[in-house]
Amino acid sequence: MCNLKSNKTLEEFKTYLNELSNLDNLDILTLFPSSLYLSVMSDYNINFGSQDISVYTDGSSTGEVTAKQVKSTNAQYTIIGHSERRNKFSEDELLLLKKIRIALNEKLKVVYCIGETKEEKLRKKTYQVLEKQIAKIFNSLSDEEMDQIIIAYEPVWAIGGGNPASKKGIAEISEFIKKIILDYYDKDIKVLYGGSVNSGIIADFDKIKTIDGYLVGSASLKTEEVAKMLQIISNK
Ligand code: PGA
Repeated sequence: MCNLKSNKTLEEFKTYLNELSNLDNLDILTLFPSSLYLSVMSDYNINFGSQDISVYTDGSSTGEVTAKQVKSTNAQYTIIGHSERRNKFSEDELLLLKKIRIALNEKLKVVYCIGETKEEKLRKKTYQVLEKQIAKIFNSLSDEEMDQIIIAYEPVWAIGGGNPASKKGIAEISEFIKKIILDYYDKDIKVLYGGSVNSGIIADFDKIKTIDGYLVGSASLKTEEVAKMLQIISNK
């Protein structure tokens, strides 16, 4: 899954899409472009979703993009709780739970991002933080709602393109996430890893049995990188 964040002008985005549409293995790609460009996606045969949705559902929310609007472009997914939303926009789990409910109500699948900061990692709080980020959402969801959620484990300190987590760390933490969701909620959940993933390391990460996919930022901005990554993971 590729998170383009606030990158690319409309013209650049169209060029990017035209290049992507020639690639093989597009069925395993999901693109998260700026909401501004979601309607362009209907001209292409690529899965897509939004990077966020509004916590408001009414039309009187200037500047916001509602889940209903996202769904009307035929998007299948939305990301909720990306660390940049949590940090730059002070989004907490109370607000994220509201957004998740709104998204699910519009039949959008949710990629829910969790991850510890560098400071939390240094204080050895990673497991505690992740458990809290999960419990504050999952304790309030119904069985059917949980089925529509994918978790993206994105350690905040690893985001930005240059500093991925270790294979061992990703394996341990993804196993932990799957285990607590199975133990507490009796669900077999899909877990993605995100944080400086690129074509150079994805083959190694792909050996981790408890990782079901990736949320890629910086490396997804170049079509050659996307092509290489798709090829590597489709040969699993
Ligand atoms: P990155 O971003 O691949 O540039 O680290 C990942 C993300 O923020 O989802």
